[in-house]
Amino acid sequence: MQQIKLVTIIGARPQIIKAAALSRAIRNHFAESITEVIVHTGQHYDESMSAVFFEELGVPKEDYNLNVGSKSHGHQTGAMLAGIEDILLKEKPDALVVYGDTNSTLAGALAAAKLLIPVIHIEAGLRSFNKTMPEEINRITADHVSTLLFSPTTAGFLNLVREGFLPANEGPFTADNPNIYHSGDLMLDNSLYFGEVSGKKSTLLKQLDIEESPFVLATIHRNANTDDAGRLSALFLALNNISVENNLTIVLPLHPRTRKMLDTHLQPEAKASVEKNARLIITEPVGFLDMIALEKNAKMIITDSGGVQKEAYFFNKPCIILRPETEWVEIVEGGAAILVDADYGRTMKAFADLKDKAIDYKPIFGDGKAAEFICGEIVKHIKPRK
Ligand code: UD1
Ligand code: UDP
Repeated sequence: MQQIKLVTIIGARPQIIKAAALSRAIRNHFAESITEVIVHTGQHYDESMSAVFFEELGVPKEDYNLNVGSKSHGHQTGAMLAGIEDILLKEKPDALVVYGDTNSTLAGALAAAKLLIPVIHIEAGLRSFNKTMPEEINRITADHVSTLLFSPTTAGFLNLVREGFLPANEGPFTADNPNIYHSGDLMLDNSLYFGEVSGKKSTLLKQLDIEESPFVLATIHRNANTDDAGRLSALFLALNNISVENNLTIVLPLHPRTRKMLDTHLQPEAKASVEKNARLIITEPVGFLDMIALEKNAKMIITDSGGVQKEAYFFNKPCIILRPETEWVEIVEGGAAILVDADYGRTMKAFADLKDKAIDYKPIFGDGKAAEFICGEIVKHIKPRK
């Protein structure tokens, strides 16, 4: 049987995590029909933002690393585009897989589409309707050059229909005749799979001495929050005051982007309260098993991360979203999460509203088998080249 050869593009932390689910499904169920060549753009490169995930999630080591590193959007995306094109010309894959909405996603999708290689976009259809977010531009562009589009949610699927994609289409599928799916979310596959392992392997709660004490988990990394001194300071003040007023520990594994801004962007009042509050624990970014341990045991999660919002929902935790809008509209509509932007007062109120709220976490992210479904569709619709 001739195998389908995929080139998978990863680069940012969440893409390495998402790739774990697809690689696992290929290894366990599709090893005879699919082979994968993994290309790391090097968008994320710190040990704690990249290498740690390969080891603990069993992602096969990348076949290529473009080592692009941190640059402005144009320079970063351009360097990736050129590097990926060279690899595609050499490897001649039958299709290319991209995840999510980062610059690595955009570069991969553009490079492949121009070479007439079908693009498979996983996490398609999500929209914030806010083009000041670089991610919104990346995801719209990636979707509109893709051949197979896998949306994790109903809202994402309907966004694609609104943009002209046909909800029930007939093959053969091409970039001009793409197919869209409501596939469920392969991040749920991962959370279910690694949820068990995490309980056995992670020792972080013990190290932080929070095994017995209630704590809130927080993450902040969106450029709109990190690059604006007023917003960043309002968020840190809110975290501090939630901790002080409720006698709670807050654990904040900090993205390097945010860490670099603390010195220059935290206003004096916020800086002083952060320095004084021993219960506001700021750590390096943590590995995925530690992150899941934190998520599973937190009282609440406060975040501007796309992935962490969902994981909060997977583990039945209320979530405060530090953004003006979200792509995961279902979790807000269902009452499990509240949007507060970077507003101090709204954050404090959301904490009070969510802290004892009874929430019905309906299953909106699929059945935990999204990766297998996606592989099945790839095998049906991507033809190995002769
Ligand atoms: C990127 C994605 C964002 C995603 C996030 C996941 C884009 C436009 N943004 O944002 O959608 O949510 O990844 O984490 O693609 N840095 C380091 N070490 C690293 C990586 C980054 O120090 O290993 C620092 C650098 O100062 C860099 C900054 O973080 O300039 C931002 O990194 P970048 O990859 O450009 O964007 P993210 O904010 O990580
Ligand atoms: N994550 C992690 N360690 C951390 C912070 C996040 O393992 O210190 C994981 C998190 O569990 C989720 C993913 O990284 O699976 C989310 O990535 P991030 O917040 O960087 O990006 P986004 O999802 O917003 O694009």
